[in-house]
Amino acid sequence: GLPEFVKIVEVGPRDGLQNEKVIVPTDIKIEFINRLSQTGLSVIEVTSFVSSRWVPQMADHTEVMKGIHQYPGVRYPVLTPNLQGFHRAVAAGATEISVFGAASESFSKKNINCSIEESMGKFEEVVKSARHMNIPARGYVSCALGCPYEGSITPQKVTEVSKRLYGMGCYEISLGDTIGVGTPGSMKRMLESVMKEIPPGALAVHCHDTYGQALANILTALQMGINVVDSAVSGLGGCPYAKGASGNVATEDLVYMLNGLGLNTGVNLYKVMEAGDFICKAVNKTTNSKVAQASFNA
Ligand code: HMG
Ligand code: MG
Repeated sequence: GLPEFVKIVEVGPRDGLQNEKVIVPTDIKIEFINRLSQTGLSVIEVTSFVSSRWVPQMADHTEVMKGIHQYPGVRYPVLTPNLQGFHRAVAAGATEISVFGAASESFSKKNINCSIEESMGKFEEVVKSARHMNIPARGYVSCALGCPYEGSITPQKVTEVSKRLYGMGCYEISLGDTIGVGTPGSMKRMLESVMKEIPPGALAVHCHDTYGQALANILTALQMGINVVDSAVSGLGGCPYAKGASGNVATEDLVYMLNGLGLNTGVNLYKVMEAGDFICKAVNKTTNSKVAQASFNA
């Protein structure tokens, strides 16, 4: 059966903006996050403590982290690829972090400039330091349903990397369909494998919508007992190191589907649409959310 409550992890300010060509002003990012904080979302991924040479859009990570209002009941994780990023994140006031690995050797090299094995060493250091400071650590596995460089990725490889991250102490593993190529079929096969090693309560899905399969893939995951879903307002998003990948599933569309299923999220759809409208106007884009398009045209 379906879970009664679904936790939505809003990744718009990070995944959504990291790929924007024009640098979004820091005060716009801060207002965007403050607006998202008032929609009922309980987790908002704020920024990434990565190299500004690699991802210029996230260069203002410290200012954004320090500038936002942290609302009670909302958690504000940030991405940290290594100890340097972790220390900077903590100095900026971060109290939750995520490490981000991949199930594809080529993607790992392109994205974080090291092999999967090397990345696990760095993540281990980060997660260990985080544990000493009582900072919860999440782990991403990119390319869980396919890689932009290698094509298909076996469920076994996804399982192996997920198990490493879970074993080192990540409380939740977010399985990323980085380039949005998965289908309910490949999602089911991948999850069946991963769930032999990790309980569904410690898993999340992170679906980009390149091929229009994201909602179907998410529904498949929900039916298999997963109740944490990543999404980005307005369907913003993409990874600079995965060419052709389009945005994340839109939070508006996800909430609309979950409302229709009678599942509780705590998120106010109208307020999320307003936050989406705010950021689209600020970056001069039209929304990728079908629900927002339909509602604003009505
Ligand atoms: P590197 O060049 O291998 O790092 O980059 P290094 O350790 O060799 O150091 C080289 C230089 O980088 C040094 O500076 C370091 O200080 C600096 P220099 O001495 O030359 O002046 N450096 C850093 N600077 C700032 N913050 C840091 C940091 N670490 C080293 N943390 C690194 C390795 C990981 C830093 C680099 O490859 C990088 O920043 N990559 C960006 C990756 C990224 O942000 N990708 C997008 C997010 S992942 C994603 O979108 C997928 C996801 O959404 C899930 C899905 O959809 O599948 C999560
Ligand atoms: Mg992503």
